[in-house]
Order: sequence, then structure tokens, then C-alpha cells
Amino acid sequence: MTFLLRAHEVTKRFPGVLALDRVSFELRSGEVHALVGENGAGKSTLVNIFAGSLRPDGGTIELEGRPVQIRSPHHAQELGIRAVFQQLSLVPALTVAENIFLGRELTAPGLLRKPAMRARSLAQLGIFDAGIAPTARVRDLTVPQRYLVEIAKATLERPKVLILDEPTASLTDRETSVLFRLVRELRAQGVGIIWITHRLEELYEIADRVTVMRDGRHVATLSAQETTTDRLITLMTGREYEQIYPMLQPVPPDAPTVLEVQGLCSVHGLRNISLTLRTGEILGVGGLIGSGKGLLGRALVGLEPLTAGEIRIGGETVRADHLSPHAMLRRGVMYFPADRRGEGLLTNRSVLENMTIAALERFERLAGLLDKGKERRAVVEYIRRLAIVPPNPAARVRNLSGGNQQKVALARGLIRDTQVFIMDEPTQGIDVGAKIAIYELLHELARQGAAVLFITSDMLELLHVCHRVAVMFQGELVATVPHEEASEERLLQYFFGHMREEGGQTSVDAA
Ligand SMILES: Nc1ncnc2c1ncn2[C@@H]1O[C@H](COP(=O)(O)OP(=O)(O)OP(=O)(O)O)[C@@H](O)[C@H]1O
Ligand SMILES: [Mg+2]
Repeated sequence: MTFLLRAHEVTKRFPGVLALDRVSFELRSGEVHALVGENGAGKSTLVNIFAGSLRPDGGTIELEGRPVQIRSPHHAQELGIRAVFQQLSLVPALTVAENIFLGRELTAPGLLRKPAMRARSLAQLGIFDAGIAPTARVRDLTVPQRYLVEIAKATLERPKVLILDEPTASLTDRETSVLFRLVRELRAQGVGIIWITHRLEELYEIADRVTVMRDGRHVATLSAQETTTDRLITLMTGREYEQIYPMLQPVPPDAPTVLEVQGLCSVHGLRNISLTLRTGEILGVGGLIGSGKGLLGRALVGLEPLTAGEIRIGGETVRADHLSPHAMLRRGVMYFPADRRGEGLLTNRSVLENMTIAALERFERLAGLLDKGKERRAVVEYIRRLAIVPPNPAARVRNLSGGNQQKVALARGLIRDTQVFIMDEPTQGIDVGAKIAIYELLHELARQGAAVLFITSDMLELLHVCHRVAVMFQGELVATVPHEEASEERLLQYFFGHMREEGGQTSVDAA
């Protein structure tokens, strides 16, 4: 059988790292082939070779049965191989249409045919039904919208091979289902699709086959229908997990309230939010996209302007005009934004420098002198806990895989003394082993008396990692459900606005 695209015993070395060790991989036309593995397993490296951004050190690549040397991204495109990567490549100052047609402008003699370009990109984006105007500047779009533009660009002329490196990591549920629809259409037209993901549950929905990689090697290729999550986790990590979610320790009954929010309203639609968070407590915040759960996190640190309400930390009111991430940090409240891929990281600097930059005072010994030994020990400890690869404080962040860069960003926050953590989707794009480490870390922080506001789209995290679950719906907090009473069914009722709590009573909405 001829494969659409085939890698045979491909090897790739970086200084000090064997990123791919004789990896073989086969893609058929008309299949969605998922590629999974822990952070640093070599997934992006392999698809970068297909996309012409990296050259292999050994092995062969065949396209439709013929050996090819893919010399550059441009060459890959000519061969019909298109890729959408973790780092988006759009030009923020240009419009959507200009971005989509960048490098292949439709020209009438002497001039760019702007209206025609717009019409075509509109048709293309129509697939997404995402309300993106071709004349909008990319810098004004949300991250999910940008991603859809990137995909529209990649599929404008139907490719033979479409590579999606963690496509759903920054997409909302609604956009994810739109993407699934598009991918199914392309598959039906015979396109071969490589789908890299850390969300194992989506494989059963979209993938035909799954290839597992570990430490730069091919481990197994399985039919998606015939595999299970347990089996995949074992193949990916080489370990068996007794349990993914650690045991939840109860919050001591006398634990004091550390964060109190009363009647919070905001410019972009938070409505009358009140909640309390006690020391040692993990409060999950769930809700659909657009429910306001991300806004809530932003509002608490002044990134979303308030129109009413009060925030108290340890009983002290924070003045609205004093609300900023920096001011909150001084009060021991740390905010982790969503979509922090690389954001704020100094990619040319080392892991150590990036981790300690926000916490230097903790390592000060005397009069501004740094305690280098203490600093290094703390960094080594977080590298170990989060299983950062390579486990080297001096490694340049630029050379880390996407997920490992995110772990560095997370460690930067954890390394400070903090009493309240506000985390927006901290486990997105992170492999299952590191997710488990993060859950354990959250539980340990809680045991040590920190409080955590854990904003997540992952239903299982809400159910298993949190003491209570607050559900947002259309900018309001409609219910707070204790761990013991939380079930998927019940939470979804609140998610979709079918039910809400009124003064502690649950009422069913007839609508
Ligand atoms: N330019 C580079 N220089 C040095 N090492 C690199 C470079 N790019 C990748 N690596 C290393 O190669 C290995 C494989 O990285 P790769 O990006 O392929 O992982 P990945 O499977 O995509 O992980 P993730 O899920 O975190 O995105 C890692 O150890 C990484 O640190
Ligand atoms: Mg990657």
C-alpha cells in the first residue's frame, strides 16, 4: 500500500538532545492520525520536518510513494503540506484577508484585487461561522479567532496533508466543534490530517489512528476506536497510574476566609458576583465559553474594569483604583493568565532566570545580595516536580518544547510566597504526567494553607480536584456546588442555564 506521507527511521539531533530516534510514521489519505506523547516527546520536531522547517539528520520521507527532501516551508507548501503550529504566524497589523492571502495575493494587472480577496476569505471563514470580518485587523481578534484565521489560511487551497499542532489548546468548546466539522469535511475529501493533542478524550471523537511517542521514539500505532485512555497514558509515560486525581483533603472547619468578593460587576459583563475563598480551599470555576469565568479571574486583579463591587483580602478592602496584577501580587495574590504559551517568558534566557525573575526578593540574603544556592535549589526542585525536560536550570527556554515552556511559566508563579492563586486554565497544553504533578502541587499548596481559584474548562478537573465548584452562566455566578454533590450532569444543568440556585435553593428553569 502506498501511503500519502511516510517517515522511515527519521532521526533528529539537537545539541545534547536526540529529539527523534529512528521514528517511523505513516499517514494515509482520508485519515485523521493523532500524535500523542508527553511534553518533549518529539511530536513537534517530527511535524516540523514534514513542514520543511527542520531537516532530518537521518532517515527518509516519502510523499505518495516517492522519496522527497523537504527543503523549506515554502517547498512543503508546494508539495501540498500545510501546517498550523503552536506559535501563530499571523501579522497582527494586517487585516484577516491580507493575512490569509499573504504571499499569494490575487492580482489583476498592476493592482491587488482587494474586494475579490475579501470575498474569498469571507467564504472561507463562513465555514467557521465565527463572526470574523475579513476587514478586521488580526490584532483586534481573540486568540481562538486568530487560530481559525490561521486554519482558514492553511486550507484555502485544499492541501494533501494538513498538520495541526495542538489545535484545540487555545480553542473554546464551540470553536473546537467547528474545527471538528471542518476536519471531517477535509478527511472526506481525502486530505490526510496529523492531529497533535494532549486532550486524549478528543481522540475518540476525531481520530482514526493514534501514534504514541515517548522520548523521541515511536512507541505504538493503534486504532483510536480500540484503545483506552488508561492504555494511552501507560504507553505515553511508561508508568501505570493508580489514580490521576489525588485524594482531596477536607478544608479545616475553622479555616479563615482569605478572599471575599461582594457584588462584583464589570464593564464586559460580570454581574453581581459574590464569593468567598478560605485558606486551604480549591474553588473551581466552570462554565461555558463566554460565561465569564475567565473575566472573573481577570477582574480580581484589575485586568477587567469594575463598575461595582468590593474585593477583600484577609479582611482588608482593596481599593478599586489600586487593583492591578502587581498590587495584588504584593498582597500575596498571584494570577496566572490563560494562554500563557511563551507569554512573558524571556526565551533567550535560561530556565533559572525565567523562574526566579518574579521572586528575587525571596532569595535575597543581605542588602540585595542574591542567595544563589537557595535560588538554584528552589529551581531544581520545581524542575523535578513538574518534570521539566531537559532538567537543566541553564537550558535556554527557546529550546524547550511548547509544554515545557508553559511549565516554566507556571513554576515562576509557584516559586513565590503566595496566599491566593488565581489560575486560568493552568493545565492546557500540558501532558498528562505534568497535569498529575500540577494537581498534586495544588493539593499541597492547599494543605500548606494557600487558597486556589481554579478556572478550568475541564469537567473532570472540576469534579475531582476542587473542594467546591462555582458555575458561571452569562456573567453571573449561578451555583456553588460542594465536591460531594458535584456530578457532571448537575454541573452541565448549571452550565447551560437550565438550573440555578436561588438563595441556596435550586430551581429548574422552564426555558
Ligand atoms: N531548537 C531546539 N534546540 C534544542 N533542543 C530542541 C529544539 N527544539 C526541540 N528541542 C528538544 O527536542 C525535544 C523534542 O521537542 P518537541 O518540541 O518535538 O516536543 P513535543 O513532543 O512537541 O512536546 P510538547 O508537547 O511540549 O509540545 C525536547 O527535548 C526539546 O527540548
Ligand atoms: Mg510541541
